[in-house]
Amino acid sequence: MSTTYQLDTATSRAHPTPAPLRRLSIPAIRQRKQDGVTADPVVMLTAYTARQAQLLDEHCDLLLCGDSLGQVIYGLPTSLQVTLEMMIAHGAAVVRGSYHAAVVVDLPFGTYERSPEQALATAARVLAETGASAVKLEGGAVMADTVAFLNQRGIPVMGHIGLTPQAVNVLGGYNARGRSQAEADKIVADARALDAAGAFAIVVEGVVEPIAVAVTKAVSCPTIGIGASAKCDGQVLVTEDMLGMFERVPRFVKRYAEVAGLISSAAAHYASEVRARTFPGVEQTYQPK
Ligand code: KIV
Repeated sequence: MSTTYQLDTATSRAHPTPAPLRRLSIPAIRQRKQDGVTADPVVMLTAYTARQAQLLDEHCDLLLCGDSLGQVIYGLPTSLQVTLEMMIAHGAAVVRGSYHAAVVVDLPFGTYERSPEQALATAARVLAETGASAVKLEGGAVMADTVAFLNQRGIPVMGHIGLTPQAVNVLGGYNARGRSQAEADKIVADARALDAAGAFAIVVEGVVEPIAVAVTKAVSCPTIGIGASAKCDGQVLVTEDMLGMFERVPRFVKRYAEVAGLISSAAAHYASEVRARTFPGVEQTYQPK
């Protein structure tokens, strides 16, 4: 049976029927991996809007309001231009649209790297103003102190290593990481440092498969792969990529639908009916009683 929603205009909350399960907790996600084994892989997709969250919620363990919204929603060239205000507005919409999945919000570039105190101020605003359960930040060993600082103060943190898009200007592009031994060793060390600092999960992005496997074996928390390996403890994709909203997507994306074509042909149909004056028809037109 599919879920339907009733919008409460006083709270902007959409109440689903049937009533869903209780929202998953961050410790429940963390405990999916027991003694190095994750029997039930963690399912994560990005979500940026309330309606998208409603549609994805029942199928996912985690919804990530990622800073990829810069490119996907705002048409920005990179995620570096994304602001904290954007993340808070979209993160709150995703929380309003979901009941079951735990919601994680990305800390945008420039809002957390300076010090653990800066990260705490930013992350506290994100949790307080969105209602999300956790934040995600990019960087490995260099961010470990910050991850521990937040965790000890009640803010669960998801790490993000390998290809870290906020570092595109240092990395020189979006190519897969870990092809040299030195780079591979650094990625595994980054993962260990985040795990020891208390990250509840780690996104491993754009790395050659043996590194993803090595990282997954090296850490006690779940790894969530994107362009990594099916052997990670979970997977994430940008929803618009897997829905087929863009002509070009990275090789690691599987298209589960071709939504761009559907939108384009619906718009073409609508335009032809407006031009032919066949829309609106009798069914869509009010007449005096
Ligand atoms: O911003 C984002 O969407 C992400 C995922 C690709 C992991 O960080």
